Amino acid sequence: MGRNYPVRVSTDPNAQLHRDLAQAAGSRIAAQQPVWPDQAELQAAVAELASYPPLVFAGECDVMMTRMAAASQGEAFVLMGGDCAETFAGATANNIRDRIKTVLQMAAVLTYGASVPVVKVGRMAGQYAKPRSADLETRAGVSLPAYRGDMVNDFAFTPESRRPDPNRMVAAYHRSSATLNLVRAFTTGGFADLRHVHDWNKGFVSNAANQRYERLAHDIDKAMRFMAACGADFEAMRTTEFFAAHEALLLDYERPLTRIDSRNGLAYDTSAHFIWVGERTRAQDSAHVDFLARVHNPIGVKLSPKTSHDDVKRLLAQLDPDREPGRLTFITRMGSRAVSDALPALIEVVRSEGGVVTWVCDPMHGNTFESNGGYKTRNFDDIVAEVEGFFQVHRSLGTVPGGLHVELTGNDVTECLGGSEKILDTDLEKRYETVCDPRLNHQQSLELAFLVAEMLAQD
Ligand code: PEP
Ligand code: CO
Repeated sequence: MGRNYPVRVSTDPNAQLHRDLAQAAGSRIAAQQPVWPDQAELQAAVAELASYPPLVFAGECDVMMTRMAAASQGEAFVLMGGDCAETFAGATANNIRDRIKTVLQMAAVLTYGASVPVVKVGRMAGQYAKPRSADLETRAGVSLPAYRGDMVNDFAFTPESRRPDPNRMVAAYHRSSATLNLVRAFTTGGFADLRHVHDWNKGFVSNAANQRYERLAHDIDKAMRFMAACGADFEAMRTTEFFAAHEALLLDYERPLTRIDSRNGLAYDTSAHFIWVGERTRAQDSAHVDFLARVHNPIGVKLSPKTSHDDVKRLLAQLDPDREPGRLTFITRMGSRAVSDALPALIEVVRSEGGVVTWVCDPMHGNTFESNGGYKTRNFDDIVAEVEGFFQVHRSLGTVPGGLHVELTGNDVTECLGGSEKILDTDLEKRYETVCDPRLNHQQSLELAFLVAEMLAQD
């Protein structure tokens, strides 16, 4: 006879949390989700994700919240950057290093321009799911499911590749984990040393095409020498804080990675420090907005010129009822032509509601068009014009322009037109590598940072 052990009822708070999250979504609209062909396969992948360790820690999310709060007050400036859509094949050591390097170089220039700390945020380690304008893509009379990001299906236009495969969410977790591991190594192991970053920037302005930025680079150089003369502790500037962010689009990925924090009993989405909801998933009764309301990360919502006053009120009420600084970021993507007309009213609504949001400018998504050669592209000048408009609007209203959100790569791709390298329509085919939206290349990214630093220095 064996001994009778008491039956142990599972008290895992995360299992209950995941049930609650799934139930809450049930009555709401979850737009932009794939149609998974096999429910058993889906359940297995979700259970696997739920069993994995968190990718980020709740305490880090809290720290980021305080940084975003500082940005809402003008005491910090946020820089978010990375691919429109990360790919599994693109998650290589060199690509990750070069993207981090680009963000660090931009941040150094912006720190000088803004005279406040820059909150560095990678649009990476989870940016694997994309909203699409149609569920199906048709080529030469053949219709297949649209590519929804490597976390869902593959870019190649074949029935096998386009079949939504939940195991890809598990693969995305592992890619994100490896990416974060490298991010942590690069940003704490000496690679981020301000002196290196400064030297890289000197390399950028030594290129004849970038002469226009020599003056600012020279000023930064003088400031560095001044700091050295004063005995600044450069050793302490060998490391930097770096956060991860992505669009919380695929709920079957985000939910199992949501966990109760043992310190405070609150739920955090541990797939990233900061998550946002996009323009296409923020509507009334949205399952995505409801999900964000239930986690305690710093969060964002993208706003286009189509945003109504009621949308703003509803988002404030749902996502930041306590008006907690740093909690809610509005990422505005108006387009260079609409920004001056559309942004002020939204800011006024937030003000009249007593909201304390962090305003971040995404100058990419309102400025996309098709080139003569059929490439989805953006013009560097439109991007700069939207940032300028964003600053002007905030300046005239006495509110705080809190940061910048850009799609970029550390590589020398040819996806956006213009910049000092003068990328032309006919150049786009040379190195057009994105699987989604066109990104600023390394040079264009730095150029944008110099121009924004000049705008910030005027404040
Ligand atoms: C994106 O950030 O890639 C995106 C799809 O943006 P939006 O939701 O603003 O269209
Ligand atoms: Co995009």
